[in-house]
Formats: sequence, C-alpha cells, structure tokens
Amino acid sequence: MPSAQQLLGLIKSHAQGDEDRFVALTVQMAASEERKGHIRLAEQLRSLAEEASRRNSTKAAKGKTVPIVAPRGELAQLVSASYPKTRLSHMILDPETNSGLRRIVKEHWQRWKLQEHGLAPRNKLLLVGPPGSGKTMTASALAGETGLPLFTVLLHGVITKYMGETAAKLRLVFDAIAETKGVYLFDELDALASQRGAGNDVGEARRALNSFLQFLDEDHNDSLLVATTNHPELLDKALFRRFHLIMEYKIPSGTLLIDTIRARLAMFPLDSIEWDLVVEAGAGLSSAEIIRAAEDAARDAVIEDRVAPETSDLLAALRARHTTFRLG
Ligand SMILES: Nc1ncnc2c1ncn2[C@@H]1O[C@H](COP(=O)(O)OP(=O)(O)O)[C@@H](O)[C@H]1O
Ligand SMILES: [Mg+2]
Repeated sequence: MPSAQQLLGLIKSHAQGDEDRFVALTVQMAASEERKGHIRLAEQLRSLAEEASRRNSTKAAKGKTVPIVAPRGELAQLVSASYPKTRLSHMILDPETNSGLRRIVKEHWQRWKLQEHGLAPRNKLLLVGPPGSGKTMTASALAGETGLPLFTVLLHGVITKYMGETAAKLRLVFDAIAETKGVYLFDELDALASQRGAGNDVGEARRALNSFLQFLDEDHNDSLLVATTNHPELLDKALFRRFHLIMEYKIPSGTLLIDTIRARLAMFPLDSIEWDLVVEAGAGLSSAEIIRAAEDAARDAVIEDRVAPETSDLLAALRARHTTFRLG
C-alpha cells in the first residue's frame, strides 16, 4: 500500500490544482509499488498517470495554441496546425522502426520517471527514406499517440517566399511556437539544407540553416521535433548530430509487403492469394503505392461482384503502379 505521506502529497497536489505534480507523484508511487512486487497495482497507477497526463497536455495545448491555430499575417503562411487522430497502429512498419517509435512515445508519457533520474526523453527525430514510406504520416501518428497538436512548418514557404529574410522568418516561427507544446514537423528538410552551396544564395541559406540548428539546440520541454528527408546526402553532417534518433524508412519487401496489403484489405478473405507472386510484382514500390494498388484490386473485385480480390487483380494493379511509378 502507498504510504500516508504519498497519499497526503497526492491529495495536496490535487487540492492545489497542480496537475503536473499529481502525475509525477502517481508515477513515483507506481515505481515504489513495483519495487515492493505489486506489479499489477504499479501498472494500474502508471496507466492512470498516462491518462491524466494526456488530459493535461490536451488541455494545455487547447489553451495555448490559439495564436498558432489562428495565425495572423506572416505566420499563417509559415505554420499550419492540426489535431490528427492517426495512431501508430494504423501504420505498417518494419518491427525495428515500429518499436523505435513506440519507445519514443513511451519516453514522452513516462518523462516524469526519466526526469526523476536526471534524464530527459528523446524528442528530436530525423526520418530518412524514399517518398511514400510513411514519414509524414509518422509525425501525425506521434501527435495522435501523444495527444499533442501537430504543427507543420512550411519550409518551402519559408524559403521561397521570403528569400533574403529566411532566418528571420524561421525565428518568427520558433518564437511563436516556443511556448506551445506540440509535435513540430519540419517536412522535407532538404529543401532548407540543399540551398546551401546553391551558388547565389549561399550566405542566406547558411544563416537559415544556422537558425534551424540553434532551434534544435534550444530547450523544447515536452515537445517532439520531427524532421524528414528523402535526400539525406544533401543534409549537413552537423544536422545529423543534433537529432536523438535517426530512423530509416524503406521500401517494403517480403512479409512487410504482404502485411501492407493485408492491412488495407482486412475486410476481404485472402486465403487463396499466391503471396509469392504478389511479393515479386510489388517489389520496388513504396508503401503508399502498394496501398493504392491494393485498393485498385479491391475496386475491381467489388465492381465485378466477386467476394474478394484475386491474385490476378493484385498482380495487374501492382504492375500498373510500376508503370505509373516509372513514368512519374
Ligand atoms: N508505412 C505506412 N503504413 C501505412 N500507410 C502508409 C505507410 N506509408 C505510406 N502510407 C500511406 O501513404 C500515404 C503517403 O505517405 P507519407 O507519409 O506522405 O509518405 P512520405 O512522407 O514518406 O513521403 C500516407 O498518408 C498513408 O496513407
Ligand atoms: Mg512526406
């Protein structure tokens, strides 16, 4: 059982409306119960703490996001805000990437536990990989999992619209968001970095990149920073060092390819599909392309009043995607 002191602290934090402390104490209590071997009680306490913390951050976000949700003037062209409901379970990822992301979410929820030991959760991620592999979707899923708002920084707008003032514009964005907890997505970061060495505007691009690097070094309390790129070779080495975790997204093959199709076609019986042939036909396509091909195959089956897509539907759809892919 929790000690009288723990109970008093808990009630006091509640009475004072100190919700962060309430969560921290609950997590502490969970840890001490765990040490006593009360595993089940510890688990219950932890999940209650996560629930309370989720509610707090949603509340805090709602209270604070007003200036960004309704950005005025320049800011409106630099940042967009949303509240995605996407979850990691909606994504088909290789086991390593999946567990890496789940771990990040866990560190976010259990940050009190880390902080008690002088540690901080890892919160700066770089997602690297080909188009259509789920990098942008991952940022939404992280927002969905943490209950934080998703702020997408429109890098392309930052650079092309405000050439000559890029660094100042970035600063404007960073100042506006410094106060607000959220998942910050710097999508296709190479747009920023590749400006470096682009001849005419090298100095300008360097200033922009330096602002960005400084931002990464600042304290972001409980926010998550997610940057993505299709072209890691364009990014400066200095940039890589500033991320806590670099995740590589790949083109799905083998079981991952099968899982991607199965997930999209979950409502159909797929017992007679010859998966070997499907895997071969889908090789080289991105997750996004494979999902679209699965939908094409399903449409054919439905329109032709068949119970489920067949191997031939899938093969045709995947091969057609290959052609579009190459032309595009
Ligand atoms: N790993 C994945 N799992 C589930 N759906 C995916 C995955 N990758 C891509 N998709 C689908 O394809 C769409 C485009 O993916 P996106 O996240 O924009 O890719 P990227 O940012 O890597 O180019 C997503 O909105 C989603 O519908
Ligand atoms: Mg993307």
